[in-house]
Parts: sequence; structure tokens; C-alpha cells
Amino acid sequence: MQEAIILVGGKGTRLRPLTNHTPKPLLNVAGSSFIRHQIAKLTDAGVEHVVFATSYLADLFEEEFKDFSQDLEISYAVEEIPLGTGGAIRNAARLLRGTSADAPVLILNGDILSGVDLRAVLRHHQARVADVTLHLTRVPDPRAFGLVPTDEAGRVLSFLEKPKTPEECVTDQINAGCYVFRRSVLDAIPADREVSVEQETFPQLVAGGGRVFGHVTDDYWRDLGTPLAFVHGSADLVTGRATSPLVGPPAVALIHPTATVDATARVTGGSTIGPHAVIGPRVVVDRSIVGANVTVAEAAQIHESVVDHDSSIGSESFLREVVVGCHSHVGAQNELPAQLRLACGIRIPSLGVRMSGTATACLTAH
Ligand code: GTP
Repeated sequence: MQEAIILVGGKGTRLRPLTNHTPKPLLNVAGSSFIRHQIAKLTDAGVEHVVFATSYLADLFEEEFKDFSQDLEISYAVEEIPLGTGGAIRNAARLLRGTSADAPVLILNGDILSGVDLRAVLRHHQARVADVTLHLTRVPDPRAFGLVPTDEAGRVLSFLEKPKTPEECVTDQINAGCYVFRRSVLDAIPADREVSVEQETFPQLVAGGGRVFGHVTDDYWRDLGTPLAFVHGSADLVTGRATSPLVGPPAVALIHPTATVDATARVTGGSTIGPHAVIGPRVVVDRSIVGANVTVAEAAQIHESVVDHDSSIGSESFLREVVVGCHSHVGAQNELPAQLRLACGIRIPSLGVRMSGTATACLTAH
């Protein structure tokens, strides 16, 4: 029986306020919670049992899957206190069914959208009789990542910190957040404290002569941990740049059947419009996620942004790279700058935030 663990216990702080009430893997991406896309991919790869390593808002995972009736068994390993990525894997391993010390266990980070062929990673692992196999991806600019150089046979040489100088950029390969562990290696991770798999487990294995291999691919890969990456990942699934068994043929947008979109509005770039949302005349929604029950008034523009459920955007407002928390209101003619994250329930009056044009007259008497 092929088994897998998904790490889903992180707080997702970079995606707040979206993650205030919803764990990152349960956020909606291209019409389904992100973890459902991962589950579908695991099922396609022949996985029959998956353990969710949960901690933050753990109950919501059981709620999401309470009616799940497909050919996949789901177990929940709940950490009262987050154990870090390594500790979480070790804790989840208690619930695996297999008993063979050599069994390969597939492990996924719960926030990576990837086109990698999971069966190929498993084959690579078996063929090299590896202790651990990591999926490695290549990035154009490696400066923001820890690097993972390998030798000609694909054996991992070291795990390097983020490079500070061009000389330190010895490779463009980075850890893609998908691993296969030999079961006995997984069981050797300390069980009584927080452990980081990236900073502790992997470097120690390499230093100790363990058989740690990289499986390098150029498949689609995106870490959905930041707001911009999150909207881009969702749009890529809709437009077909990234694929999921749960998403239909490539499209310019995914509009829920209960949403209302005015005929003069333009919804494009792989945007998603949620249930009961209302998109007004001459509105532009580009490469964005508009949640359930959101209202967008006439001529507003939303680019590369998320507007969470039950919020409203006033007429002629302009948003780029913005996150609007749930139950918020952005009045008419606001211009919200990039990287702004509005907390849940915030109200911005009309003309409250302007980045261009002439400021309106002072409304207060002096
Ligand atoms: P940020 O707070 O925005 O950095 O997000 P995060 O909490 O998800 O952290 P990060 O992106 O580094 O985590 C990578 C993956 O590991 C995600 O799928 C997390 O859910 C998961 N993860 C991180 N820490 C823990 C932990 O202590 N326990 C468990 N079970 N999972 C974790």
C-alpha cells in the first residue's frame, strides 16, 4: 500500500488575513480547496492512505473531509504544539499502516503547486535505493532560497543557506517540498521536540553519509505561501499553465454558476469568481480571486488580488496585488497600493485612499 503524509500544520502568516480563519491548505484555489487538488494528485499516483500532519485550526481539516468517500483513507496526526516540519513527519508516521522498514513514504508540503510526476519520484527513489529522495526544482534567481547541489549521479552534496554573493550561487536547484523517505529513516527523527527537516534532518543525513538523492525536474512549480504567488497559482490552474485533476479544460476564468457577471464586465487572466458574487458593469477582474458573496461595483478594477468572502468593492476603485479580508468594504474611488493587506471587517470610506490625482478637499471644518 502506497502511503503519504501532507504537512498542513503551519499558521500561514504570510497569507493573513486569509489564513485568520482558514488554514492555508483549505483556501480556495481554482474552485477547490488547495488540499483537494493535492489529494487528487496523490490518488492519481496510486496513494491509498494519507496522513494529514495538522496543528493550526486542525479541526477544520476533519470538517472538510467528513463526507469524503473516495478510494483513499485519511488519518489525522494532530500536534498540540507545532513540531516543525521534521517533528510533524515523525509524529504523522505513527499512523502509517505499513510496517516494512524499507517502505517508501511520500511526503508533500501542503502549499506547493507542482506538476511533478509523483510516480517518477517514487521510481527514482527505488532505483537508487535511497534513504531520502527530494524533488528539486530550478529557479531563475536562487538568491531567495536555500540551495541543494547534487553530483553527476544526483546525490545531494550539501544543503546551503540562502546565497549572499554571486559566488555562493553554486546551483539553481532548490528543495521543491516533496520527498520520499525510507520508513526507517523517518522513524529515526527525534519524536520529543521541534525539528526542521530542512535545517536539521537533511543536513545531518548528508553529513552522516546517508543516501540522499535529488530528482531534478523542470515541471511547473510554485510555492503558494505569499499572496501574489497564491493568486498566480490559482490563475495558472484555470488557464492550464498548471494542471490538476480537479480543474477542467483551460479557460480565461472560472465563474461559479451562482455568480452574476454583468455583460460589460471583463473577467480574465484565470480569475476565479465565487458563489453568489456580483460583478457590476465595466468591472475588470484580472488574474484575481473573488470570493463568495463579494460585490464589485461599476467600473472597479481588481488585478492580481484576492477579495475574500462577503466583502464589497465600491465603484471605480482600483486594486493591484492587494488582499482584502472577509467582511470588508472598500468604498468608491479608492486606489489601493500593491502589497496592502486589509484585515477582516475593515471599512474604507469613498476616496479614503488615493495614490494619484488631486486630493479631494478637506471635509473637516477648521
Ligand atoms: P508562513 O507562516 O507564511 O511562513 O507559512 P507556514 O506556516 O505554512 O510555513 P511554511 O510555508 O514554511 O511551511 C511549509 C509547509 O510545512 C506548509 O505546508 C506548512 O503547513 C507545514 N508546516 C510548517 N510548520 C509546521 C509544523 O510545525 N507542523 C506541521 N504539521 N506542519 C508544518
